[in-house]
Amino acid sequence: MATIEILLINGPNLNLLGTREPGIYGTTTLPDIEALARQHAQKYGVELRAFQSNHEGDLLDAIHAARQYAAGIVINAGAYTHTSIAMRDAISSVGLPAVEIHLSNVHAREAFRHHSYLAAVCLGQISGFGVNSYLLGIDALLRHLGVLKE
Ligand code: DQA
Repeated sequence: MATIEILLINGPNLNLLGTREPGIYGTTTLPDIEALARQHAQKYGVELRAFQSNHEGDLLDAIHAARQYAAGIVINAGAYTHTSIAMRDAISSVGLPAVEIHLSNVHAREAFRHHSYLAAVCLGQISGFGVNSYLLGIDALLRHLGVLKE
């Protein structure tokens, strides 16, 4: 059987994790988060591809390209969560199951972070658990895909 592959997408400014507002986002760098996420997925025999960009169009292209290889998407779209109808349309257009994640609890922050354009086209949203949001997001997606059963 072919190996299941999932895509982890990180949007704008998440490349600065580690030094970016550590009181809100912690001190773990994006490469470390991606490595932890990849190891976590591999425990279930799932390959994880990671992509980060600060450019909306490149994020859209990555979502489109995922149709060729991915069973689903875990996405931290950063600020595009709150602004991008195009990202929402990309997720609904490709028809892949997606889980929206955030390091911080967006609902406990500024009002402009309370609305997500993506949430309605995702399986659900995980917000506020720091690096663990990534692992919980992977678990939620793998449960949906039937990889994780317990
Ligand atoms: C974030 C929350 C967003 O509101 C913010 O714009 C980010 C990071 C998070 O992971 O907590 O860039 O997605």
